[in-house]
Formats: sequence, structure tokens, C-alpha cells
Amino acid sequence: MKTVNIGIIGGGLMGREMASAFGRWCALQDLPVIPKLVAVADTNAEVLEWFQKIPSVTQRVTDYHDLLANEAIDVCYVAVPHSFHEQIYVDVVQAGKDLFAEKPFGVDLNAAESILAAIKRSERFVRCSSEFPFFPGAHAVYQACRDVGPLGRVLEVNAGFHHASDLDPNKAANWKRLSSVCGEIGVLGDLGMHVLHLPLRLGWRPETVYAQLQKGYPRRPGNQGDAEVICDTWDNAMLHTWTMIGDHPVPMRLEMKRMAPGETNTWFIEVLGTDGGYRYSTKHPKTLWSFERGATQLWKQTDLGFSTPFKAVTGGIFEVGFPDVIQQMWAAYLLEREGILGEHFGCVTPEEALQSHQLFRAALESEQRREAIHPSYG
Ligand SMILES: NC(=O)c1ccc[n+]([C@@H]2O[C@H](COP(=O)([O-])OP(=O)(O)OC[C@H]3O[C@@H](n4cnc5c(N)ncnc54)[C@H](O)[C@@H]3O)[C@@H](O)[C@H]2O)c1
Repeated sequence: MKTVNIGIIGGGLMGREMASAFGRWCALQDLPVIPKLVAVADTNAEVLEWFQKIPSVTQRVTDYHDLLANEAIDVCYVAVPHSFHEQIYVDVVQAGKDLFAEKPFGVDLNAAESILAAIKRSERFVRCSSEFPFFPGAHAVYQACRDVGPLGRVLEVNAGFHHASDLDPNKAANWKRLSSVCGEIGVLGDLGMHVLHLPLRLGWRPETVYAQLQKGYPRRPGNQGDAEVICDTWDNAMLHTWTMIGDHPVPMRLEMKRMAPGETNTWFIEVLGTDGGYRYSTKHPKTLWSFERGATQLWKQTDLGFSTPFKAVTGGIFEVGFPDVIQQMWAAYLLEREGILGEHFGCVTPEEALQSHQLFRAALESEQRREAIHPSYG
């Protein structure tokens, strides 16, 4: 069993989520690698206190450079506001560490390009976080769509990620509502990589995009009674794209919404063909729908149980949840880093993250010009 020492930079929502995934690594079976969280850096000293409960963490620092100087660390996981991605990701790989980076992989396309250049110079192993394809239902759609032959002619693809988090006008503003920190791309950066991971991996790159972008409430209360904050990010995005699947151009709609009534964290994908199709949504996490056209047309419902890509001690009849897919994603990252991922599904590559930014830039242009744009993937 090989131990990989991990340092977390940014111990907020996602930093803690990852720490908990390492804490129950014993749930995974037959993996030759075990992550050990040894260090955490966060500019907020109060955030660091939470990590005192993890005995393996021997370094808690407010300056991430101190963490990068720790020679024991093999991999840095970085989960900080988007405007800090470029500087910190570049510093991590230049310090000789491997990187597991949070999306959107830079605040904008220029930042993503500069991160990619630094990765190439450093030759470090880098992947970007996107956990939803590790749900068994999402994974099943991916596997079925690697060969779309049995689906007949693919008629359309719909994929999305919906939240209702911004419907409440009294919810306090945070950095995700400010273009200066979240990025001009707003919700595209916040949710878009999750939506694009499977289509890009299947080779379904959007070749044109017509974007409909909407903003949310322009002002929100500040935190803890602070003055009102002006919120200027895009909250909802509908990207109407064309992609090529087989010999046919196919409409592919990509949706990212922070204002979707009733939705908490709903990731979905639907692939519809003349002979077959698939539907999966985390709203019903164990249910995969598949379409068959025969003498009668059938939508079949399959309950998948705990059929994760990497086997766990959890019984096959139980359900999979968010913490489970986070752990599955880490298993994929660590195995790929060791060169032993085999046929398993892998995490987002830096090149895929760059393509998402190239699409988002085209989407911003489309919104501005109110016309369809060809993204430049050069
Ligand atoms: N994969 C997912 O499902 C998922 C979900 C939510 C957020 N995210 C991504 O994770 C990242 C962080 O989001 P979050 O929701 O955890 O944010 P958060 O605000 O909860 O946490 C960010 C943390 O970074 C710290 N920080 C800020 N600047 C820093 C610096 N220079 N050095 C060290 N620490 C610093 C903050 O003090 C805070 O504790 C973003 O890129 C976001 O898009 C991913």
C-alpha cells in the first residue's frame, strides 16, 4: 500500500469535504494507494481550527507558501476563490507538487492558458475536480455512449446542473456573486465544468454556441449585517450548441442555473436516439432510465444500487451520495497519478478544462452579440 501525502490549500466548503473523503478511505476496497492529509493552508485562521480534529494534519498555516515548502507533500488539492486559481495553481506545480485543482481552473480563459503553460513546463500530474460522472447512473450513461451505434441516430443531448441557491433575495452575498472574484463567466465557471465533463470526454465538443445568460438579484445583504453588496455575475446560462456525433450534427443543450426553482444540487444528462436513449439525474440518484424502440416504445427504469466504479465495503443494495462520488473521484485521481487507472473513467484533464473556458468565452460573446458563435479551440 502506497501512502500519498496531501496538502489542502483552501479549507472551506470543498476543503473540508475532501478531508472527510480521506478520513473514510477504508470504505474503498483493493486500492493500492492511500491518501494522507498532512497539511492545510487557509488565510482564515478560524478555518484552520476545524482541521485540528484530524490527527494526521501536522501543519496548519495561513500562508500557502509555507505548505509548498513542506517536502513531505506529494499532492496539493486547491479549493480557493476563482481569482486566486492562476497564482496558486502555478505556484503549486512550480514548487514540484502534483495538483488536484478545483474548477473552473482559472478565473477566465487567459488564466487557464497560463496555468496550462505552467503545467507543461513543470511536467507535474494535474487534474481538475468534477465528481458527478462517478455516480453509477452517470457512469452507466458514459459507458453506453462510448459506442452510440445501438442508439441509432442521436437526436439530441441535454445536460445540466441546477441549483435554487439564489432564489432567496435575503441570502447573503459571497464571492461567488462577484465577477471580480468568481469571474465574468459567473455561473458558467461555477457549474459549467460539471456539465461538460461527460460530453467532452465522449468527444462531443460544441462547435457553435448560442448563449442565453441571465443575472440574478443585483443587490444582496452583506455577511453579518454588512452593507448591501452589488452582485453582478451571470446566474443562469442556457447554451444551445451543435456538436457532431457520428456523421450527424446534433443539438446539445447545456444548462447551468443558480436560479432553478426547487433544485438543490441536480446534475443530469439525457441522450436521445432514434433506437435508444438514456436519462440520469442526481434528483433520483439510483435510477437510470433507458429507452428501447421495438414493437412498442419502452422507457425502462433500473435501480443501480452501490455500483460505483471503484468497489467499496458498502452493500450493493444501498444508495450512493455526494461524499461517495467525491471519494470515487479521488480514487480515479490517485490511480491515474500512479499510471494504473486502466479502463476506468478519469478526472477532467487540463486540456478539457481549457476547452470549457474556450466555450465559455464564446458564450459571453454570443450573449453580447445575440448570435451563434464558433468557439476557438486553437
Ligand atoms: N467540485 C465541487 O462540487 C465544488 C463545489 C463547490 C465549490 N467548488 C470549487 O471549489 C473552490 C472553492 O469553493 P468553496 O465553495 O470551497 O469556497 P469557500 O469560500 O467555502 O472556501 C474557500 C476557502 O479558501 C480560503 N482562501 C481564500 N484565499 C486563499 C488563499 N490565498 N490562500 C489560502 N486560502 C485561501 C478562504 O478563507 C476559504 O476558507 C472553487 O474553485 C469552487 O468553484 C467545487
